[in-house]
Amino acid sequence: KSTKNITVLPGDGIGPEIVSEAQKVLAAVAGKYDVEFNYTEGLIGAVAIDATGSALPEDTIAACQSADAVILGAVGDPRFDNDPKAKVRPEQGLLAIRKALGLFCNIRPIRTFDALLDQAPIKADRLQGVDFVIYRELTGGIYFGEKGTIGEDKAFDNCVYERSEIERIAHLAFEAATKRCNKLTLVDKANVLETSRLWRKVVQELSAQYPSVEVDYLFVDNAAMQVILNPAQFDVVLTENMFGDIISDEASIISGSLGMLPSASVGTGSSLFEPIHGSYPQAAGKNIANPMATILSVAMMLDHLDLPEAAKDVRKAVDDALNSGFATIDVNKDEPQSTSAVGDRIADLISAEVSA
Ligand code: IPM
Ligand code: MN
Repeated sequence: KSTKNITVLPGDGIGPEIVSEAQKVLAAVAGKYDVEFNYTEGLIGAVAIDATGSALPEDTIAACQSADAVILGAVGDPRFDNDPKAKVRPEQGLLAIRKALGLFCNIRPIRTFDALLDQAPIKADRLQGVDFVIYRELTGGIYFGEKGTIGEDKAFDNCVYERSEIERIAHLAFEAATKRCNKLTLVDKANVLETSRLWRKVVQELSAQYPSVEVDYLFVDNAAMQVILNPAQFDVVLTENMFGDIISDEASIISGSLGMLPSASVGTGSSLFEPIHGSYPQAAGKNIANPMATILSVAMMLDHLDLPEAAKDVRKAVDDALNSGFATIDVNKDEPQSTSAVGDRIADLISAEVSA
């Protein structure tokens, strides 16, 4: 039996509830395959600030660095959102763990679910065949540039990229394209920004190494429109940190609920798996949040841990639960199930104790 050491960072809001459903699903996987999951828990976000004063305590970083993979719930607490003077913020913990683990590439698959086609605000015919993946740069750009205030009424955030930061994620995106439909779209603002012109230059140069991949360039404002107008045109979307943040939340409405979308962050050390949604504080402790995004993030983790059959099982169980209408209120308004009931059902489907 192989043992995988997983560091779990439940975080804030609904984080602890959704992460424990993901662990339930992993227990079902462990019962079926020759693998065992060994967990270490760590603090991050507002819960970490409350307990230690820091949004990312040193022992959390150490636990992540030594893990085979990290599962993160969510980070964020409204107590901090409307206090511009707050010195420490939960989100700093998330940015700091990305930096500490060298997680320069955030992978966000965007797909539709048959059972949810009519939930999306976009007309169903535009959603036919939509299946793309966003490669978002995660440790550079305006998020990490020099920032500050000058006096009371002036503030700045610098956006800086260097060639090496662009090359390493571009290679991953091109490789992904060769395994998918051989199309890569770079989203930038090269008509205005120097950093975007550097992105274009570097991607143009690298494209010579991937002759099978057709490369397309879109300005971010146009891309924002195309994601709604004609999402089926995309295969791999490559973009910088902030544009990727914005485009991926926008693209999530394609799937019918923000509660459905997983992500993987990869780089130089341990990889981290988290839903793309936030901490949804209004639902915290109510057992109503959708655990599927976290469960699908765990499927991405299983692929990463070289357990592709288990990953497939998890995805199928999620589809089966959805197809039988077994889902939380964001997806099934008429007969909503609780967070824990959905986790139980998915785990049971994997263990094949129930039929769909
Ligand atoms: C995300 C989130 C984070 C980001 C926040 C919480 C710092 O929105 O993971 O997309 O902007 O990267
Ligand atoms: Mn975001």
